[in-house]
Amino acid sequence: MATTLINDKSIKILQDIVSGLICSSKQHFLHSIINRKKGFVKLADRMLEEYNEETTTIAKFTARLLELGNVPKVESLNIEVLYEVQEQFKMELEEQIKGMDWLNKVLPQIKGDKVTEQLLTSYLQDENKHLSWLKQQVSLIETIGLQNYLSRQL
Ligand SMILES: [Fe+2]
Repeated sequence: MATTLINDKSIKILQDIVSGLICSSKQHFLHSIINRKKGFVKLADRMLEEYNEETTTIAKFTARLLELGNVPKVESLNIEVLYEVQEQFKMELEEQIKGMDWLNKVLPQIKGDKVTEQLLTSYLQDENKHLSWLKQQVSLIETIGLQNYLSRQL
């Protein structure tokens, strides 16, 4: 495959990731603010940590786009911000699964661009950790109940 074609594919994928992450990371950010305001400081800290991590990822993907001669074109995607913790988790988990399915689908399309492939693979690893964490919270709530779960987040 010609290098230009590889680069075009990488650029498209990187653009999509940057747009998606700018929006989805803001969801973590706003959920974090809501939970802090409600007094669930530990949960708020964890969500803020996720936001910060994703901001670093955005910076890495943007740097790669620049190396490929492009600047990010940010499309505004709708994000839903929810007040109840349980609903936040449900939504974040759904989004997480959707996002990871997409990542797994596009990853083979950039074979040949080792640098971008490496970036995406390590991003996927981070997202896998986030997925496990989200699943763990959902199952904790099922096991010990919402009130007990929340009382541990103060
Ligand atoms: Fe996320």
